[in-house]
Amino acid sequence: MSKLNTKVTDSVNFFQGNDPKKLVEEYGSPLYVYNERILRERCREIKNLVSYPHFSVNYSTKANNNLAFLQIVREEGLNVDAMSPGEAHVEFMAGFKPEQIFFISNNVSKEEMQYAIDHDITLSVDSLSQLEQYGQLNPGGRVAARFNGGVGAGHHEKVVTAGKKTKFAINPEYIPEFKEILKKYDLKLVGINQHIGSLFMEGDKYIEGVKAILNIAKEFDDLEFVDLGGGFGIPYEKLNDQPRLDLKDLGEKLSKILFDFAKEYGKELTFKVEPGRYISAECSVLLGTVHAVKQNNVHKFAGTDLGFNVLARPMMYDSHHDIEVYNNSDDTEEITVVGNICESGDIIAHDRVLPKVAEGDVIGVLDAGAYGYSMASNYNNRLRPAEILIRENGEVVLTRKRDTFEDLTRNFIPLK
Ligand code: LLP
Repeated sequence: MSKLNTKVTDSVNFFQGNDPKKLVEEYGSPLYVYNERILRERCREIKNLVSYPHFSVNYSTKANNNLAFLQIVREEGLNVDAMSPGEAHVEFMAGFKPEQIFFISNNVSKEEMQYAIDHDITLSVDSLSQLEQYGQLNPGGRVAARFNGGVGAGHHEKVVTAGKKTKFAINPEYIPEFKEILKKYDLKLVGINQHIGSLFMEGDKYIEGVKAILNIAKEFDDLEFVDLGGGFGIPYEKLNDQPRLDLKDLGEKLSKILFDFAKEYGKELTFKVEPGRYISAECSVLLGTVHAVKQNNVHKFAGTDLGFNVLARPMMYDSHHDIEVYNNSDDTEEITVVGNICESGDIIAHDRVLPKVAEGDVIGVLDAGAYGYSMASNYNNRLRPAEILIRENGEVVLTRKRDTFEDLTRNFIPLK
């Protein structure tokens, strides 16, 4: 196989002896491939982030909700957050207990709140209006709340979730009214949480955010936990040697802040973090097939089956994903990699220098495990791909079947 640009997967032995072309032959194309060893490594890195003893890593299931994936995350001793009853449902299937699930709600219905109450899951509300509704449903109950500490960060404005422009969380100026509603319904505030946004590569913003939420925590007596949020970034430009987030440095700074806060607060409360991407992105490569190569005016295009129905991130946020080519080519060329969806924005990678591709070649989109399959759709009535897992011993198992035509049509009710 050409070694022209497979240095990333080679360096971590991603395929563990499996041939990407053979995997596609067996399981179909496109195909999400996961590596169990790398997933476990990422779980352990975050679990060991701080030396403070009461620390919980709540994996953010929205990044990847594959059942087998969640089973591994649970085996590694992580807890989970849920954004919806649907996510909690899969987490239960994976063996998580109610006390391991934290439902971080946003504009949910009363039925969805009731799901959390009925299943003994702690729910975080993110407005006074939702706190009022929760109080009516569950007077005397336990509740958490999401606050906006004013510090936002993220790789794109669409994923910044704190600061002045966001729909999320309760602004601290409403704390007096918030307390009145707690009192009115005899609610016990067990924890507060925040999430500043998705993907920071420097720890400073996160630390700033942590300080802000801890200042808010001081407004409440007897909290059981403070959830500091997710957002831990991964280097998407590995072929350009982009450095990793310095977890050691971040962990040391964070530990000191947490120990100091617990002392000042007078209680060894639990601190949580909610990483999604850090746990799930790098353990996956999305494989696809080149079906056409053509020159249209100034651009050369590789037409693949990797439409934005399969991986939405490049189309949605102009996100960069490195691409590898699994062929024997010894030459490179500049090419734009596109999908098979009938929209001009259906572009996975603009003007990349890649090994020369031909029809039938298999290519890999790296770091595809976060917000990849979980944001995939059936747009253009395309079938969502299968997901496979390379186990630690190199064995390959199917963990989600490829969609079928029946999956596409099962909810239709034809006119009589
Ligand atoms: N906690 C909350 C409340 C969140 O809303 C999120 C992500 C996370 C934790 C996990 O964030 P992470 O550690 O993965 O950055 N689709 C976008 C990312 C959206 C993130 C949404 N919230 C993307 O593909 O980049």
